[in-house]
Amino acid sequence: MPYSDYRTALVTGASTGMGAAIVKKFRERGLTVHAVARDAARLGELEAQTGAIPHAIDLSDTTQMERELGGLDIDVLVNNAGVSAPGNILDASRATVDAMVDVNLRAILHLARLLLPGMVERDLGHVVNLSSIAGRYNFFGHTAYHATKAAVAQVSRQLRNDTIGKRIRVTEICPGRVETEIFGRNLGGTPEAMAEAWATYYEGYESLTTDDIVATVDFAIDAPRHVNVGLIEIMPTFQVPGGLTFDRRDARA
Ligand SMILES: NC(=O)c1ccc[n+]([C@@H]2O[C@H](COP(=O)([O-])OP(=O)(O)OC[C@H]3O[C@@H](n4cnc5c(N)ncnc54)[C@H](OP(=O)(O)O)[C@@H]3O)[C@@H](O)[C@H]2O)c1
Repeated sequence: MPYSDYRTALVTGASTGMGAAIVKKFRERGLTVHAVARDAARLGELEAQTGAIPHAIDLSDTTQMERELGGLDIDVLVNNAGVSAPGNILDASRATVDAMVDVNLRAILHLARLLLPGMVERDLGHVVNLSSIAGRYNFFGHTAYHATKAAVAQVSRQLRNDTIGKRIRVTEICPGRVETEIFGRNLGGTPEAMAEAWATYYEGYESLTTDDIVATVDFAIDAPRHVNVGLIEIMPTFQVPGGLTFDRRDARA
């Protein structure tokens, strides 16, 4: 099922970053696109630019999600919205743990429950899930983020089992560092935080760009109908996973 077979798409986290870039590509490809995020003003700008249909909702509010998105016939579902947090589980707040579970995982399961039956009925569909190298590799970062992203990988594989025998494809896109707002949001989301995050995480690095991610999504969707691209891990050339840590006993002193 290349693009020509699909008519509609829903992209979460569409107000900025990878999500907004994916919406633009889908509109170029001729799909009717439902764009989901909380920021109504940004979605309005995206609507003006691309003709995407805005849905200003909070994905942690399941009732709102059911009401607004539940009745839609969607051929391509992109679960892109995601949140992370600084630090690790030792100093985590209740709110950050809940937000990561709610947005990174719970919303994906509810959207599958709401939208996958229609795909099964029409025998046509593609789910694209944005996970992270944090779900595959262990390195410093928030345990709730690593755990929810590992779960996204598992959900992606399991959806293939749930829909076996139907022309429904599932793709996990697993990126390393991409230039977006995510780190600035972690630092508070103010313009100063965005600038600080840029200086810390992006300045001087050759990170991925949202165009690189769009290219992977486009490739997976445009593949012939008998091809399911299951997993694309994509990282900056200069970013390498791994690095075993082993503290000496005397390092504890
Ligand atoms: N950037 C990276 O280095 C990187 C690396 C690996 C994986 N990823 C993953 O890639 C995906 C896209 O990340 P990004 O870097 O493009 O992020 P981003 O620039 O921070 O954008 C996050 C998006 O998610 C939306 N969102 C957050 N909370 C939401 C909620 N409660 N309800 C509805 N929408 C919500 C935001 O919109 P509103 O604020 O308007 O709601 C925004 O559109 C995420 O799943 C992320 O975990 C990112």
